[in-house]
Amino acid sequence: MSHRPHLVFEPEIQDALSQYIVELYVDETDAQRQISEKTAIQGLPQIDLRAEEGWMLMFLTRLIQARQVVEIGTLAGYSATWIARGLPDDGKLITLELDQRHAQIARENLDANRVSHKVDILVGDAAQNLKTLNGPFDLVFIDADKEGYEVYLEWAINHVRKGGLITAHNAFQHGNIVAKMPTPHRANSAKYIDAFNRRVAADKRLLSTIIPVGDGLVAAMVL
Ligand SMILES: C[S@@+](CC[C@H](N)C(=O)[O-])C[C@H]1O[C@@H](n2cnc3c(N)ncnc32)[C@H](O)[C@@H]1O
Repeated sequence: MSHRPHLVFEPEIQDALSQYIVELYVDETDAQRQISEKTAIQGLPQIDLRAEEGWMLMFLTRLIQARQVVEIGTLAGYSATWIARGLPDDGKLITLELDQRHAQIARENLDANRVSHKVDILVGDAAQNLKTLNGPFDLVFIDADKEGYEVYLEWAINHVRKGGLITAHNAFQHGNIVAKMPTPHRANSAKYIDAFNRRVAADKRLLSTIIPVGDGLVAAMVL
């Protein structure tokens, strides 16, 4: 029988721990903060990364000295600014977005964050646009339609260099991945993410884990 203390925190403690990380480590710029603040006013869904998740993405980008990165799901460009901050000045992030308006707002935000020179936005369905990209890439970040995650994964495995990273947001699906009674809508998303997580875990071409920051970040190294 295990005698380890339970790692189950009350929601207030969980929030306080996230806040603790942000206060100690996360250097979010004013221009980045303004993206999140503006998305609600502009009528965009507030489903961008939390600051501590963005910081982790920047940390990983820099850790593996990534120079060529692909992101699937731009929204207003918030996560793109974090990846761009992790890239050298001549590095490149190609970010894919279905929605024309999201892409336009992202362009403005990337300009305001002075990282436009490192970022290209490809507008259209990601599954189609990925076919035009050859790589090899150092890092892929998946954060778009959940039913597409497995398709994006297969593309990423074939286009990321050995030792490179595939990352994906919402690995926990707000807890619904293990919840006994999620709402039907949430159960559907959780079903896709659960299938994705299991596929990543079982794939012998990858060495993987979920980093338990925010809503869970899958991190898979290509072997
Ligand atoms: C969760 S948001 C991305 C948030 C962003 N990564 C951030 O943290 O700032 C998902 C985005 O994926 C886009 N999207 C959904 N389906 C897509 C598809 N098939 N191809 C490309 N983008 C898609 C949505 O329009 C939305 O802007």
